[in-house]
Amino acid sequence: MAKAKPKSKTVYVCGDCGAEHNKWQGQCAECHAWNTLSEFVVQPAPSAVASVGARRSGYAGEATGAPRVTALTEVAATAESRALTGIGELDRVLGGGLVDGSVVLIGGDPGIGKSTLLLQMLGSLGEALAGLYVTGEESLAQVAARAQRLGLPLGPLKALAETCIERILEQAVAERPRVLIVDSIQTIWTEQLTAAPGSVSQVRESAAKLTRFAKETGTSVLLVGHVTKEGGIAGPRVLEHMVDAVLYFEGESGSRFRVLRAFKNRFGAVNELGVFAMSDKGLREVPNPSAIFLSTHSGPTPGSAVMVTREGTRPLLVEVQALVDQSSLGNPRRVALGLEQNRLAMLLAVLHRHGGVAAYDQDVFVNVVGGIRVQETAADLPVLLAVLSSLRDRPLPEQTIAFGEVGLSGEIRPVPNGEERLKEAATHGFKRAIVPKANAPKKTKVGEMQVIAVERLAEAIDACI
Ligand code: TYD
Ligand code: MG
Repeated sequence: MAKAKPKSKTVYVCGDCGAEHNKWQGQCAECHAWNTLSEFVVQPAPSAVASVGARRSGYAGEATGAPRVTALTEVAATAESRALTGIGELDRVLGGGLVDGSVVLIGGDPGIGKSTLLLQMLGSLGEALAGLYVTGEESLAQVAARAQRLGLPLGPLKALAETCIERILEQAVAERPRVLIVDSIQTIWTEQLTAAPGSVSQVRESAAKLTRFAKETGTSVLLVGHVTKEGGIAGPRVLEHMVDAVLYFEGESGSRFRVLRAFKNRFGAVNELGVFAMSDKGLREVPNPSAIFLSTHSGPTPGSAVMVTREGTRPLLVEVQALVDQSSLGNPRRVALGLEQNRLAMLLAVLHRHGGVAAYDQDVFVNVVGGIRVQETAADLPVLLAVLSSLRDRPLPEQTIAFGEVGLSGEIRPVPNGEERLKEAATHGFKRAIVPKANAPKKTKVGEMQVIAVERLAEAIDACI
């Protein structure tokens, strides 16, 4: 006897926060974003995906048994098992290797090197861990040509050109790779939905299926995600919530350096950085990147300051440049590249109020050298010093570094790991450091470097400009 056909259901999903609504409306009731709802037809699941092979691999597809409540004392907490990818900088960002059954999303601008990195990773895993590279953007011939050019061992590399998630999972169940790469999630679609590939509902549903597959079979899944103009991963925000780790690949278009940053990581530290250089043989690791973000000036230059930032677990010397120029606009420009714009506006207000320096009639441009993005507040003091140096057209004293958070009342606040930052600067031959008082060591010298401790913005300004 034929069963009654289950009905499909229409819901409206917010592209920003992923909230579901029963009817369409102009504004999302959850996150209040406008025009972000799109239609999402949920078809009842047909029979479980590839149930034949599924049983073999332990992947039950959609059909799972009844849930059972368990006291956590009964659960044996096992440390996650990891596999080293063989690319040290990637392992570092992942928190010490690729965790079995984890889902990692890698986002970045087109052409930054996402496909190259993942293919190199598969090549480096080689025979040790079977991998499968699913390409939805390039043809198999293109992938093979790239692998050849990168000089990877072609033997263990397996690829699949397919965009339908049901068929991908069918193949994955049959091949049983330990690492599955999907390039890119925006090209993947499921038969269960009528929406176009790349739409919010398709991306969300395909990613959900891949996540389920990863958790049930212990396969590590890496998804490539496109980024929007604003720099977020295209598609629903929920994608970032669904996965275990979100990595961003960043870099300036003119520069050959690329920075991989952990934005979210359930198995490691966030803001950990991995540094690579793009060469004609693909991405090369830069294991000691401390000084690559300094530009090479022949002498002291106005508008330039060097800071020691600590992104993740290692200190980096980074140069900030500022250009301050008389504005012809009623509303002068505030442009921050590699820093947060609002923070710059706030710092300029503090500079006016507590440093007695007005910049309200000046255009202010600030750039972090090397295309790196600095998120920590330790950049406050060096940014203000660079701005002031440009405004007065006077360089900072030679071989000077600075770090410190600037508070709204003009105080210079300490930042974490001051000692480590100072050591790094001293190792690189810097002669003078301007740092928050609470970060300064008891002695006024670290190696050959003189440490100037400051409590107020005015003191910092007096100390160097
Ligand atoms: P790709 O990995 O295709 O970028 P994505 O997948 O993030 O879009 O990177 C392609 C860019 O890298 C392209 O501009 C060429 C450059 N490239 C090299 O410079 N050397 C190489 O060996 C390879 C493979 C790519
Ligand atoms: Mg690509």
